[in-house]
Amino acid sequence: MKLLYNIAQLATCRAKGGQGDIHPIPNAAMAWDDGVIEWVGSEKELPSAYRGAERIDAGGRLVIPGLVDCHTHLAFAGWRADEFEQRIRGRSYLDIARAGGGIMATVRQTRVAAEADLLQRAAGFLQQMLALGVTTVECKSGYGLDPDSELKLLRVYRRLADEQPVRLVPTFLGAHVIPPEFRDNRAGYVDLLVERMIPAVAEEELAGCCDVFVEDSAFSVAEARGILRAGQDSGLAAKLHADQLTSGGGAELAAELGALSADHLEHVSERGIRAMAAKGVVAVSLPLASLYLGQPPMPARRLIEGGVAVAVATDFNPGSAPSFHLPLALTLACTLQRMTPAEALKGATIYAARAVGLEPSVGSLEAGKSADFAVIDAPDVNHWIYHFRPNACAMTVISGIERWRAV
Ligand code: NIG
Ligand code: FE
Repeated sequence: MKLLYNIAQLATCRAKGGQGDIHPIPNAAMAWDDGVIEWVGSEKELPSAYRGAERIDAGGRLVIPGLVDCHTHLAFAGWRADEFEQRIRGRSYLDIARAGGGIMATVRQTRVAAEADLLQRAAGFLQQMLALGVTTVECKSGYGLDPDSELKLLRVYRRLADEQPVRLVPTFLGAHVIPPEFRDNRAGYVDLLVERMIPAVAEEELAGCCDVFVEDSAFSVAEARGILRAGQDSGLAAKLHADQLTSGGGAELAAELGALSADHLEHVSERGIRAMAAKGVVAVSLPLASLYLGQPPMPARRLIEGGVAVAVATDFNPGSAPSFHLPLALTLACTLQRMTPAEALKGATIYAARAVGLEPSVGSLEAGKSADFAVIDAPDVNHWIYHFRPNACAMTVISGIERWRAV
């Protein structure tokens, strides 16, 4: 049994209440056993049963639930810094993609990459995410776009889940774009997804979710409906890249399918917001992608006021969001989207856990949940997100085991 004490503020981030209710406890303590939280409360009220526990001093710092990055494209080969410069010079993301760059540039490199190299690089990213207080990461395939290469990426995630401590939620994104070999046969690629790739992913239990990029330049609403339904029939929960570059009915489709989340939503419609609220679909805001593509971000206030839970994630990928810095995404959610620091934190904890189907076990600090937390060197949540200092995370714990500590 272990006891963390001397906590200036502990943000419990329980689901109940609204976006900004993080249920903070001042001068707190928290006890866990066997990786599971047993007690959280004011240190003054510590039950005598925990007095003999092994004690860990939080040093008068802030304690938050381990951060959940609920949208990343973690495993890929190469980078695309050249496109970053081209966009700065005025070329659009879509122009670059039409000329064979963009997602396909990464697909070409990822297809020929060895599994061991993809694994080693992704493991390095996860190690650095751990040092930011991140304990759970959703990770998409989508840079393979053929059966062997997609399964290769998902097997990299399976091995990573076994070999390193960060909790992973793999998502099958075979429907990222139509690969060039199917340019004149879109239906053929959709059939390949539905008839071969989704069944293979389900058979090997390589992913828990299925995602589709719904966009003029990727998949139509009708194509996405068929792919996501096939995923659901095979036990894969639906997620969507929706309304990112244009407003295309992706949010409405997410509601129709009862998806876990609709992500991006820079161009979400009022109808889409109402439909998502009615069905409890989480909206995942990706402010780094909006920032890098020079777009206005998701209208988070309209979604929150419309009754939609808003999660915040990085979208880490080599194109639209080449950073895995989730605390930076939180600071951007505040400055660009007018979310308060408390609202942003709830978006990277309990609502992010909901967006990946893990709400019952992670995302908040309460009895019965996994002891996944970060000790942050700040007096409170506002100060942490406002100051955005390097090395703010002093310690990261997953399932009650210390996995990272600042020197
Ligand atoms: O979420 N929108 C589609 N996919 C990624 C971008 C991937 C890439 O540019 O490589 C995104 O922004
Ligand atoms: Fe994405």
